[in-house]
Amino acid sequence: ATDGLAAKPPMGWSSWNKFGAEIDDKTVRAMADAIVAFGLRDAGYVYVNIDDGWQGERGADGVLRPNAKFPDMKALADYVHSKGLKLGIYSSPGPKTCAGYAGSYGHVAQDAKTFAEWGVDYLKYDLCSGEWFYADADTVQRTYYEMGAALRATGRPIVYSLCQYGRFDVGAWGRQVGGHLWRTTGDITDDYPTMARIGFDKNGKAELAGPGGWNDPDMLEVGNGGMTKDEYLTHMSLWAMSAAPLMMGHDLRDTGVEVLKILENREVIAVDQDARGVQGKAVRKDGATEVWNKPLADGSVAVALFNRGDKAARMELKAADAGASGLAGVRDLWRGVDLPAGEQAFDVPARGVVMVRVKGG
Ligand code: DGJ
Repeated sequence: ATDGLAAKPPMGWSSWNKFGAEIDDKTVRAMADAIVAFGLRDAGYVYVNIDDGWQGERGADGVLRPNAKFPDMKALADYVHSKGLKLGIYSSPGPKTCAGYAGSYGHVAQDAKTFAEWGVDYLKYDLCSGEWFYADADTVQRTYYEMGAALRATGRPIVYSLCQYGRFDVGAWGRQVGGHLWRTTGDITDDYPTMARIGFDKNGKAELAGPGGWNDPDMLEVGNGGMTKDEYLTHMSLWAMSAAPLMMGHDLRDTGVEVLKILENREVIAVDQDARGVQGKAVRKDGATEVWNKPLADGSVAVALFNRGDKAARMELKAADAGASGLAGVRDLWRGVDLPAGEQAFDVPARGVVMVRVKGG
């Protein structure tokens, strides 16, 4: 969208990856508390998003009410806002959501108004349920347009997240319907093969991404325990290099120091959030290794050396990887150290990564 929202990829937390539909007011408040306490808000993670499972029934007036697990949505929004955070919510264009709760069908403008009245700042709109999943591309596009227009009509700035699993060529029209991000894949799960398939190969067309509209390769699994440290470093590096939205997906109360160091590395986050908004991509592939670059606003370039193989690999960092004739400065972003200028080689662990920010010279 061109409304100035999501000039950078949105960052925050979402309930789905860890809690599924087992989410309630108390847990959302606890996540808001933890985001602040662990310094994650100040690192940029500001959206606290309730995914599927909050909905109750519609009243006689047609207004959708939350279920018993969310006694007062407005009070919850106030609480989240009082912490300097923003609240996200979830709905579907069909009559039912993926988890079988009430969707917005027949109540699009009314639901947008309800969300705005509660103080919602972000809506994920998920194509679910029966025939809706199999609708034709025009219907899908129109239905996403309708909610986008309804959100705008509320007058409240609301980030609009389109979720159709990369179907219907959504990247080509996501911005036109008011979207700020659009999913490029089916659901991520907390394992290396799935994460890698998405992050390396299903992260959307780079040329479609930029300020106001981002490819969304789905939410983070860092901290959920199904991957090794190197695999999670690869996960975070891929998302940052891809200018992907960074939505944490674990129980923030259980954030160990290793996980915290991955999620709140300011230099890596700065690559993701860079004002130029370029989605990085592979510039060199050799067997199981891939070198990616992402040009940044200050003229420097982020370069990631990925080893997708099951054995450690020796990988070269070349000036050409940064589109430069030399390397005047090299900063290792995960280790947080300056390295000697110039081309050099690294031992990259199995399924691991070395991520640097370089100045050409
Ligand atoms: C499918 C989406 O891809 C998930 O991220 C999640 O929102 C579920 N639906 C909720 O039912």
